[in-house]
Amino acid sequence: MGHFKMASTLDVNGKALNVNATADTPLLWVLRDELGLTGTKYGCGVAQCGACTVLVDGQAMRSCQLPVGSVGAAKITTIEALGGNHPLQQAWVKHDVPQCGYCQSGQIMSAVALLSTNPKPDDAAITAAMDGNICRCGTYQRIRAAIKDAAGMAPAPAAVTMNATPIAVPAPKA
Ligand code: FES
Ligand code: FES
Repeated sequence: MGHFKMASTLDVNGKALNVNATADTPLLWVLRDELGLTGTKYGCGVAQCGACTVLVDGQAMRSCQLPVGSVGAAKITTIEALGGNHPLQQAWVKHDVPQCGYCQSGQIMSAVALLSTNPKPDDAAITAAMDGNICRCGTYQRIRAAIKDAAGMAPAPAAVTMNATPIAVPAPKA
């Protein structure tokens, strides 16, 4: 039965949208190809990289492995719903997080899910929530800093320590 296209309605970013896909089509392709929501990216296709992360009823899910037929009336949230000025997006800009950018929609959506359940996550909680989001450019430290900043937990700027001991300057030789 999964091979026949079926008209159905999805709740995406607060709107009821009609889609026409086989029940086994991954949600990712419905979002990108039918609905034109291309902010959600395709990385591995096998739930290993996190590039395709969206929220389903507030939980971070890999849309590449989620059959659209299983979504039902659940509320789907994609990166487009954040609008560009979400506190996490502002922190991402402030910390200059992206490099190539490909993984970053998924990273941000995982971070949104994290902060919605744990507004002040410690390092272990950040690691646990973000572990499945792979970044080939290695932006992990900046991602962590941006999450802490958005959570109001930015570390204080490193104190500038002045050397109180005067440096002895040798007298010029005659
Ligand atoms: S594309 Fe879905 S986890 Fe990699
Ligand atoms: S910024 Fe390039 S893969 Fe993450």
